[in-house]
Amino acid sequence: MPSRPTELLNVAAIRADFPLLGHEVYPGVPLVYLDNAATSQKPLAVIDAVNHYYRRVNANIHRGIHALAERATEGYENARRKVARFIGSGSTREIIFVRNATEGVNLVAQSWGRANIEPGDEIILTEMEHHSNLVPWQLLAHEKKAIIRYVPLDGDRCLDTGQYDALLSGRTKLVAFTGMSNVLGSISPVKEMVAKAHAAGAVALVDAAQSVPHMPTNVVDLDVDFMVFSGHKMCGPTGIGVLYGKEALLEAMPPFLAGGDMIRRVTLEGADWNDLPWKFEAGTPNTAAAIGLGAAIDYLGAIGMDRIEAHEHAIADYALEALGELRGLRTLGPPAPQRGATIAFTIEGMHPHDVAELLNRDGIAVRAGHHCAMPLHQALGIVATTRASFYLYNSTDEVDALATALHKAQKLFRVG
Ligand SMILES: Cc1ncc(COP(=O)(O)O)c(C=O)c1O
Repeated sequence: MPSRPTELLNVAAIRADFPLLGHEVYPGVPLVYLDNAATSQKPLAVIDAVNHYYRRVNANIHRGIHALAERATEGYENARRKVARFIGSGSTREIIFVRNATEGVNLVAQSWGRANIEPGDEIILTEMEHHSNLVPWQLLAHEKKAIIRYVPLDGDRCLDTGQYDALLSGRTKLVAFTGMSNVLGSISPVKEMVAKAHAAGAVALVDAAQSVPHMPTNVVDLDVDFMVFSGHKMCGPTGIGVLYGKEALLEAMPPFLAGGDMIRRVTLEGADWNDLPWKFEAGTPNTAAAIGLGAAIDYLGAIGMDRIEAHEHAIADYALEALGELRGLRTLGPPAPQRGATIAFTIEGMHPHDVAELLNRDGIAVRAGHHCAMPLHQALGIVATTRASFYLYNSTDEVDALATALHKAQKLFRVG
């Protein structure tokens, strides 16, 4: 086994905050949860916030003048303030609550995209996008007869940024790319890519579903025009996500979904739109989940995103070294610190689903498949990978457990 890094976080204390991590998956088999890129576990602070909301507060927001309605509204809007601070936005008008990152991308594609993309315009995406940041643009491009160009990969490691430069032109209207690949773990040079998009006159959207949960993020410093992420991947509940947009862009955009709450005045002839951010929040929102996300932000903030990032870099380093000792195992993506702690790999002679199934018998939860990034796997010439993804509560002991279980699986398959 490689030498262990000094523990940058008190992982044992952090784990004690997450009730599910203390449970056995099967009798006598403790859980080793390494599927954090899919969704994270939730600390008690988040579970309690949601529980408290339904036990003591529950009411519909923005509509009532009774005490509970006011408290629910305050809780929801307070969560929005926390999100704004967490990502460095100066205004809650720029924070739109959506269901998840996927809905955030669809909102921008349907609202900004349909209003701004013309036939022949170019949209630049990358080959490593999650389907959520791919299919909405394909639909838009099809409707508008626009052209999508893809930034290729540099081998099996990260984006070929030289090719990105070559693709940018006066025809580029939008650049949309992931902050961190959910397969390669590679961290995109967001600030540089956004600056280059702007220099070409294009708008930039960052899919931050895999980056915001794992590193400090400041939208003003990055100068992104739009950014999306999901609460459930950052210790928050499911059913809540965020679209950040620069105020001037959001102001100029038509509504996405229509109905209650997003209007100021309705007549039988038409309607006026509500102010930002409510113009984009039609219908009763997931108030409890927004409040839970606020609690998750408090929790992560108290630990410190810079410390979480450093811990994950150390874990990624250690895991890459430990997995590298297994014969026939190939990890994808760059070394740390150009990457996060999401590690996809293949093992010669074993199908990724068999690997995941055998790991599951040892209580180790990983993901196998294309991870909603089929074009990436096609570009790499592989059908599927196994993916282990780590978070703030994962320890080097769990990396050891993964390496030991993989070795055992190889012996069973007589490979390695
Ligand atoms: C990079 C990336 N983008 C978008 C998504 C979509 O997230 P959600 O399903 O929460 O909308 C994911 C989910 O795995 C992802 O990894």
